[in-house]
Amino acid sequence: MRALILPDLEAISHKAAEIFLHLSKQYISSANRFVVALSGGTTLRRFYALLGSDIFRNAIEWSQIHLFWVDERCVPKEHEESNYKLAFDLLLSKVPLSASNIYRIRGEESPDRAASEYEKDMLGFFGTSGFPVFDLIILGMGEDGHTASLFPGSESIKEKTRLAMPVYMMKPKFNRVTLTLPVLNNALHIVFLVAGKSKAHIVKSVLVGDKESKQFPASLINLPNDNIQWLIDREAAGI
Ligand code: 6PG
Repeated sequence: MRALILPDLEAISHKAAEIFLHLSKQYISSANRFVVALSGGTTLRRFYALLGSDIFRNAIEWSQIHLFWVDERCVPKEHEESNYKLAFDLLLSKVPLSASNIYRIRGEESPDRAASEYEKDMLGFFGTSGFPVFDLIILGMGEDGHTASLFPGSESIKEKTRLAMPVYMMKPKFNRVTLTLPVLNNALHIVFLVAGKSKAHIVKSVLVGDKESKQFPASLINLPNDNIQWLIDREAAGI
């Protein structure tokens, strides 16, 4: 696990876009495709906007990019809370990525149906043997230490066989669908973007790996090749 502390959200967003560009070139030249899963939340907004901006848009071979989602809120794709809408407004609507390369979670369906349809899409794309291998997964982390839609104490954390599953939320107001830990921990690269002082306590606990960290789902993200890059702004690093 590598942790890079940068001055602010702009700097971590720019670094994440550089990593996306670098890995896209690496995997497109070796495998002729680059398969990525995107998260939602506010921290990632600037990163998506940068990928859709002149600086990066023209440098990325969008015809070889395949986009999936880490999680989704169970709302229609036009809804303000939709992770698909977030990526569409800031990125997809700005780049030449064909609809056939976009595999969104259909939040407008019931959580169970959306989860099983998404599993079918992944099995259709990756094949049926073993867990999907994403080239890159982009993650955020909540103030409670959740990542994707894996919340502290939730049953979904214990899932061992499913690829995606519904998450019924007590509060806030919408249910979710999330990739499961076996899929997240099967990625070739994971990049966390974390900003803001409200997360400093959790960041420290997770990076140090202290006793408390076990309750934070973000600490359960472990890759055999250790290719986890934490991009943290000074506030979230408690500096
Ligand atoms: C979501 C995300 C979630 C997010 C964290 C951080 O759908 O909400 O996928 O895991 O990354 O909640 O969100 P913020 O960046 O808004 O703090």
